[in-house]
Amino acid sequence: MNIDEVQIFRAEILHFLADPAEVGDDISYEYFSDGLIIVKSGLVEAVGHAEKLLPRLPADASVTHYPNSLIVPGFIDCHLHYPQTEIIASYGEQLLEWLENYTFPTEREFGDPDKASDVAEFFFDELMRNGTTSALVFGTVHKQSVDAFFSAAQARRLRMICGKVLMDRNAPDYLTDTPESGYRESKELAERWHGIDRLRYAVTPRFAPTCSNEQLAMAGKLLKEYPDLYLHTHLAENSSEVEWVKELFPDRSSYLDVYAHHGLLTKRSIFAHCLHLNDDDFELLHKSGAGIAFCPTSNLFLGSGLFNLARAEKQKVKVGLATDIGAGTSFSLLQTISDLYKTQQLRNHRLTPFKSLYLATKGGALTLDLDDLIGNFEPGKEADFIVLDYHATPLLARRLKRCKTLTEKLFALQMLGDDRVVKNVHILGEEVYKK
Ligand code: GUN
Ligand code: ZN
Repeated sequence: MNIDEVQIFRAEILHFLADPAEVGDDISYEYFSDGLIIVKSGLVEAVGHAEKLLPRLPADASVTHYPNSLIVPGFIDCHLHYPQTEIIASYGEQLLEWLENYTFPTEREFGDPDKASDVAEFFFDELMRNGTTSALVFGTVHKQSVDAFFSAAQARRLRMICGKVLMDRNAPDYLTDTPESGYRESKELAERWHGIDRLRYAVTPRFAPTCSNEQLAMAGKLLKEYPDLYLHTHLAENSSEVEWVKELFPDRSSYLDVYAHHGLLTKRSIFAHCLHLNDDDFELLHKSGAGIAFCPTSNLFLGSGLFNLARAEKQKVKVGLATDIGAGTSFSLLQTISDLYKTQQLRNHRLTPFKSLYLATKGGALTLDLDDLIGNFEPGKEADFIVLDYHATPLLARRLKRCKTLTEKLFALQMLGDDRVVKNVHILGEEVYKK
């Protein structure tokens, strides 16, 4: 389809304008039980009730109709590792042993560009099947892993952020770089890819235990030289990891202070996990404008802990939702929402289905500082959207018959839904996946 043409889509439509936890569910979203999205040159031209918008269109305008379906913005995954695709569901370990036994040996394979391209293509197919249209992604230490990733993303016209891992200690020799080579290669990759089409670069120190002070200082230098790059790392995921960071950085007042000391807290910094932080840490994140990637399936799978979302809300820290593949157990942000709900039940924090869907869409866009481009259907936003099928499974169809309100319907979709529910994916208006 020629993207310069106007495209019109008709279905039930839901998108968010604000955080339900801040403004209240009722005014956080726009919902059209019979809605239209009009797309022009890949961007949203208008969204609204069909009965209001149809009379403004030429009588012969072609409309793609999706009955029994809900259109929402494409899901945004704020933290995952494409090279870990093949080790998803590896048995038995918590973080540090899991890294040694499964992750590092697999990541070694990404020195081979053919392997990297093969996994990148599979990874993007999997994102599309699950309705994830944008993501913040780890490569490996090998710069070719990032080239393979961005080449595949560019061909699919996806909005993606990625970076080469920086890691110069406490890891196998075959996976380490040095502060100098890490600096040189990150700079080369950022200059090649950052801002090209829909791609952006993230400076990616793996986490404090595998980075020397010299390497973290170098990451800070890169951010100073290129202030619009992202910073992407892990923070306070596992209690043994937190103890280890205290030993490795005795002069720093907290794990977060290790990163702060090296100038790594900006409004484009995203920290995965953040399970073991105190009020001061949350305050520092708030002040710097940095965001958190909350990874419920991973946190449960590795036995890492339960994220304190209520505190992040109270202290006004940006939070996005993330799968953290391959420690996370599903590419589906619907399944991730299901575990998100359960982790917060265990903390007595009752999440509404509106807040959950917000986190997977507009909340993610805000966390990734992409809110001016994606995350909802305001006019001018990039038209990445997905079509969810209310009749995808017999159980879902049967359950939904008993649902009387949008809240009930949305919740059932979130608890019972996964890739089977994603019927179509549109990137810049164009259909790129059909179940
Ligand atoms: N911390 C450092 N590296 C990793 C990783 O690859 N996955 C997770 N979940 N945590 C990490
Ligand atoms: Zn991770």
